[in-house]
Amino acid sequence: MEFSAKNQEMANVFASILTIGIFEDDKALTPAQENLDIALNNLISDYLIKKEGFKGKFTDTVCIPTFLKIPADKIMLVGLGKKKDFSLAKVTEICSKLAKQYEKILNTKNVACELLGLNSKKFDAKACTKAMTEGFMIGAYDYDKYKTKKNTSEIKKIKLIAGTNQEEKEAKEGIVEAQIIGEAMNFTKDLINEPAQNATPEAISNIAKEMCEQLGVTCKVYNKKQLQEMNFNAFLAVGQGSVHEPKFIHLTYKSHNPKKKIVLIGKGITFDSGGLDIKPANSMLTMKTDMSGCATVLGVMKAIAQLKPNIELHVLSALCENMPSGSSYKQGDVLTAKNGKTIEVDNTDAEGRLTLADVLTYADELNADEVIDIATLTGAVVVALGQNITGIMGNNKTMINKLIQTGEKIGEALWELPIVDDMQEALKSDIADMRNTGSRFAGSSVAGRFLQNFTQSKNWAHIDIAGTAFIDKPYRELNKGATAAMLRTLTSYILS
Ligand code: BES
Ligand code: MN
Ligand code: ZN
Repeated sequence: MEFSAKNQEMANVFASILTIGIFEDDKALTPAQENLDIALNNLISDYLIKKEGFKGKFTDTVCIPTFLKIPADKIMLVGLGKKKDFSLAKVTEICSKLAKQYEKILNTKNVACELLGLNSKKFDAKACTKAMTEGFMIGAYDYDKYKTKKNTSEIKKIKLIAGTNQEEKEAKEGIVEAQIIGEAMNFTKDLINEPAQNATPEAISNIAKEMCEQLGVTCKVYNKKQLQEMNFNAFLAVGQGSVHEPKFIHLTYKSHNPKKKIVLIGKGITFDSGGLDIKPANSMLTMKTDMSGCATVLGVMKAIAQLKPNIELHVLSALCENMPSGSSYKQGDVLTAKNGKTIEVDNTDAEGRLTLADVLTYADELNADEVIDIATLTGAVVVALGQNITGIMGNNKTMINKLIQTGEKIGEALWELPIVDDMQEALKSDIADMRNTGSRFAGSSVAGRFLQNFTQSKNWAHIDIAGTAFIDKPYRELNKGATAAMLRTLTSYILS
């Protein structure tokens, strides 16, 4: 998809479809829309709005042919909904749905669209364009790598119509940023969707290395022998039942004079069978996605290294496969984590926290201002919050609230779950410092409490995307399947 922006009279556009936005509670045309209407002999006001009765309901569309080459073969109205509910998140959702709509209509290679709802005065042209471009890219994503018949109805060109030179300038900036983020999201989704047969720890670490070479970012990959020397014992235990060698990756982006140092950690289980505590077939079905945290932080690095904020960013992921075999770690095994604390293995399916424990300890050595881990960690978070709200917890209210607010602006919902010291009780072991599972109550919080034993950071947040990383049915701008949940929020958080 190729995006452009131009300050232009809409009547002079040359496109297969030209789209304009109409509010439900204010159908008066803007001056630019009025000029277009005049050039089209009142087609919009008389025919589409009066006779067809277009209501402007959120994401509703109506499309009719003009039998003209200029401004466009077809004119499409899209409903923006009520003005008071309008937001950037709504813009993204509308454009995601437009992308799919365009693909359904024949000969829609060349699309033009005005900057939607700019007259609401809720945001500037740059923010509007950014939300639009991200929406188009999210809506147009599909994973057809393994289909012999590829999708051929893809939109080739989208031209965004600005009303002033200033708007055009801002729109151009918005497009550049959004394309970086949209491409990072596609990269993350591709990694999550990739079958575990191919997305092995080694394959993912090679992809990370390749990406870093292109970005000019440093990338270190550690193998099993090195990790043994580095005492990543809890992590290595999880991977020991698999034929695939575990890998640990450490990516570093650093600006000239960074004002902040952030560590991002992504859970990287390339397949979670549960291990000897094997999962029922149904629960195992989507477990190739148990490296979504890793895919997300790699995507964030991809975006950040191109947007180049004045910070130092470290991205860490411990990659391995959790499998049952003769060499698997077992119930009752006692592991000595990298920080020296001992853990009794109570359940081999609570493997994510074991891998994250050692990475959190490694992160301590980096002395960062903030540490954020993101993981498909618990089924309990899916029960508590469903597939469209991400769980967040940690030890710093300000940081958590800022992450929640950042997500809200973008349309990625986060909800805080509590961690209290008493929860350590549930993790008591008779023979070790702790065990890796608690009772079945408050499962997500207890997992968070477990992780807290392995970080010294005073600014630590843990994000549980078990429900939101991969969804059963489409939601707002998101298609079903991999969502790249929190990539936009984390990127925006780091940039601010
Ligand atoms: N990877 C799973 C969590 C998960 C569940 C991710 C559903 C995506 C969708 C994790 O490793 C796991 O198995 N957690 C267990 C923990 C339990 C054994 C304490 C769970 O939630 O059942
Ligand atoms: Mn598991
Ligand atoms: Zn898991």
